[in-house]
Amino acid sequence: MIELKNLTVRIEDKMILKDVNLHIAHGETIALFGPNGSGKTSLLKTIIGIPAYRVESGRIFFDGADITELTMDERAKLGIGIAFQRPPAVRGVKLKTMLRICMEKRGIFNEDKINEFAHKLNLHNCLDRDINLGFSGGEIKRSELLQLLAQNPKFIMFDEPDSGVDLVSIHLVGKVINELLEKEKLASKRTKAGLIITHAGYILDYVNADRGCIMLNGTIICSGNPRDLLEDIRTKGYEECVRCLK
Ligand SMILES: Nc1ncnc2c1ncn2[C@@H]1O[C@H](COP(=O)(O)OP(=O)(O)O)[C@@H](O)[C@H]1O
Ligand SMILES: [Mg+2]
Repeated sequence: MIELKNLTVRIEDKMILKDVNLHIAHGETIALFGPNGSGKTSLLKTIIGIPAYRVESGRIFFDGADITELTMDERAKLGIGIAFQRPPAVRGVKLKTMLRICMEKRGIFNEDKINEFAHKLNLHNCLDRDINLGFSGGEIKRSELLQLLAQNPKFIMFDEPDSGVDLVSIHLVGKVINELLEKEKLASKRTKAGLIITHAGYILDYVNADRGCIMLNGTIICSGNPRDLLEDIRTKGYEECVRCLK
């Protein structure tokens, strides 16, 4: 579904991603690990097409089509979605209005569906508030997921859905990510794929990842069983990755 080929990206004159290669198949979920500042969020922002993240060389393919030059809204319309780590508050736009617009675009708007999604994420009290304005950390994470339920993208990226989230929220977050990624279906029957950044790996107790990747200094340096990678990171730290590279 997604293929990154030798992707090199800069912001202004700083190189932040170097020669990134990644392939994500239909039905697959990838966990992305890496120390702070290694470029994980930048990778997601590059895939969704935030203009400041300039692709210096390499290509991004989605369902076989080259999307490297497409704008962010064109990518969203093709079916790429993202739950941001720290989304901005949107003053003057109610959460409910945003959900209604997303669902109208898909031709499925109905008030009951919005209420059902909001109840699922325990956000019914936030529907008439401005998006993310004054929301708690957990509410922001759930609000991002609520917008994704309304958009229903094919390829979904989650930036640290488990950071700053309490135990009750993380259970809900996990449940909705599983629903968004059609985890109840056999992998071969799924039409979705996901990329989940996780620092501590808590979300992996709720959402099964098929493969894990480690990013270091703007490059994906290895991939493997996500549980094994996480265990290695926990016991040996990322210093071992640096040694391993040498
Ligand atoms: N908009 C930006 N302007 C300048 N530097 C940035 C910007 N976004 C990210 N960076 C830099 O790129 C590097 C990678 O950041 P980021 O992708 O947020 O890492 P991670 O998500 O792995 O913690 C950091 O050094 C960060 O300061
Ligand atoms: Mg980040």
